[in-house]
Order: sequence, then C-alpha cells, then structure tokens
Amino acid sequence: MKKTFLAIVLVISSLCLVNAQQKPVRAKALCGPYVQCVSETGFTVIWTTDMDAIAWVEVAPNDGTHFYNKERDKYYDARGNGVFPIGKIHKVVVEGLEPGTTYRYRIMNKGVTAYNGSGNVEYTKGSGTDVHRGSAFEITTLKKDYETLRFDIFNDIHGKDSLFRTILAGARDNRDFVFLNGDMTSNISKEELIASMYLNSAAKSLNGGVPMFASRGNHELRGRDAIKWLDYFSTPTGTPYYSFSFGKFFFIVLDACEDKPDSDIEYSGIVASRPYVQRQSRWLKEVLASEECKNAEVRIVFCHVPPETNGWYGAAQMCELLVEPLNEADIDAMFCGHIHRWRVAKPDGSISNANFPVICNPNMQRMEVTATNKSIQISTFDTNGKNTNNHTITLK
Ligand SMILES: [Fe+2]
Repeated sequence: MKKTFLAIVLVISSLCLVNAQQKPVRAKALCGPYVQCVSETGFTVIWTTDMDAIAWVEVAPNDGTHFYNKERDKYYDARGNGVFPIGKIHKVVVEGLEPGTTYRYRIMNKGVTAYNGSGNVEYTKGSGTDVHRGSAFEITTLKKDYETLRFDIFNDIHGKDSLFRTILAGARDNRDFVFLNGDMTSNISKEELIASMYLNSAAKSLNGGVPMFASRGNHELRGRDAIKWLDYFSTPTGTPYYSFSFGKFFFIVLDACEDKPDSDIEYSGIVASRPYVQRQSRWLKEVLASEECKNAEVRIVFCHVPPETNGWYGAAQMCELLVEPLNEADIDAMFCGHIHRWRVAKPDGSISNANFPVICNPNMQRMEVTATNKSIQISTFDTNGKNTNNHTITLK
C-alpha cells in the first residue's frame, strides 16, 4: 500500500516537473526589430517572437535621461482595431513625433500561454529590450528636406545568408535607408525562411535604426507560404507597391509580379499577375498625378524585374502597364535586379520603352547610391568589397 502511494506521488511530481519545464517562461524576440514606413512624424517597428504574444513599443526622447527615468509613452499593435493581436509577428506604429529628431525605443512582449474560450488570457512574464545598461534602439525621424540622400540596394541574394552578411558588413554608416529589391529567397515554402535566409541578418545590420524598404521579387511569389511575404513588411498602401518620400526625393516601389505567363506550368495554376499589375497601373497613375510626386525634385523607381520590350512576359507586361505611365512623369532613374548582372539601359529604346535610365544591380552585390538634385552616383561592390561598377546620372 505504502509502495503504491509512493509511486503515485512520484508520477504526479514528475508530471508537474515536465509541465513546469515545458511551459515557456517568457517570449523571446527572434527576428528584429527592424523599422519601416519611417516618416517625418513616425515609424513602424516590426519583430517576431518564438511564441504567440501581445506586444508594444516604449518610446523615450534622446535627452540623456535613463530609459527608466519615468514612465515612457507606449504604442500598441493596433492591427486588431481596439483588440491586441495575439501572434508571433508584431507591427507597432509609432506616431505623433517631431521631424528630424532622434528617439530611443524598446520592444516589449507578453507571451500568451492560453486563450480560453471565455476570453480569459494567460501570460508569461513580460520581456523585451534590456534597457538597464542603456541599450535601447535609436531611430531618427525623417527631416523635412535632404540635400544628399544615401542608400544601399540588395537583391537576388536567393537565400545565401552568409554571403548576404558579408556584403551587408561593407555598408556605409551614414546611409539614410536600405532597400531590399527582391528575390532575397528563391522560394517561401515555409515562412520561417524569410527570417532565416535574410531578414535576421538585415535586421541585425540595421540595428533597429536604419529604415528598411523592400520590393517583392518574382521568386517571392513561389512556395506555399509566399502569400505571407507581406506579413513581414509594412507599406503605406498595405500592398507590395507603394511610394514614399525623403524631402524632395520621391520614390515609387513597383511589383512586376511573375516573369512567365500566368498559365505557365511552373505556377501550378495559382498565379494571376495580369489583373494585379493592371490594378497597380491604375494606382500608379493616381500616384504620378499627386502633388507629392509632381512637386518632387528627384523621382526614383524601384522594381525587381527590369522592363524589356522583347523580354519575358513579366518584363514585357511592365512596358505596357507600368512604364507607359512612368514615361509621363519625368522619372530620373529606375533600379532593378533579376538579371543577375550589371546593366545600364539608356533611354534609347534598345531594351525597353522607358524614357529614363534603368540600372540593374548584379546578384550578391551591394549597390551604393548617392543622390542630389543634380546627380545620382551609383557604385556596386562584390562579396570581397571590391568596387565592380560605377555610373553617374546627371539630372536636368
Ligand atoms: Fe528575379
């Protein structure tokens, strides 16, 4: 009898121990934070956690006080429209800030261990950026104007993360933003690949402070979780095509979608690029007619696929639906990738109908751009840091 009782106690104790060991103590940040949609008055912070969590961002001025000096302003993930979203990807919009001003921030999580049917939620302990030793992230809102703008472009990394880290390491400290111009992975068979194949590395390099913008490459339409690509990015339109400004510099980000006809056997019947690019074309015409675009001094376009009149379907479709409207808008340059080599297509009709230069960055190289209202200087650097190409566009 005594033995049976002891055995039962031992079994219950070990079960409790296993349960205690399995229950997560805190949510851990896995990827990020990285910053998107930076404007003169705000920014969006994105990061992922290893378990479902609710999340928020605390913001402090860069005034020399300790982060713990007082209660800091809190911004919550507002995608639930009044209810905190519970998930592993967190997007928090911080707004109401001053232009050209540096702020400190930290990300915070509370892991969700149970969400009962009645609506009762159980949490882990809270966790977040350790600001005890002053290691909050720093971000500067956009200034009202820029004389010179510096940005780096990466494309066609195709999941070669270690090489990506190598070219990221060569970047300038004073860059104003970084642009990921598509095909950063070869497919998205599972969404975890987005972080492990490039986004972790990009986020670490940018240290939560350098703004990141991105376009979608044709390979990012492939794979079972390709539909989730936009979950990891934030754009002003909520679509892969959008526009943004840095003072007098106006940028348009386009998405040429897939490169072969929609009915191609490789797409297994799930691609309908034509109506998508047609919708994008209508949006583009509205953007080009906006005061923001018309009043800009420099207009630059990003698109993973370069336009080619006699090229593959996606590149030829671009000429018809996207380049024709752009030709009415005094565009200064378009930056592309996709062809895995350096190419400057002058506006002479030989490659496309574009009346502006189209510059392709090779795969696995960092393109460094320095723009003013007089010129756009372009250089590329390979994985050894060697300067491989240079080109200057003189503006009117
Ligand atoms: Fe591509």
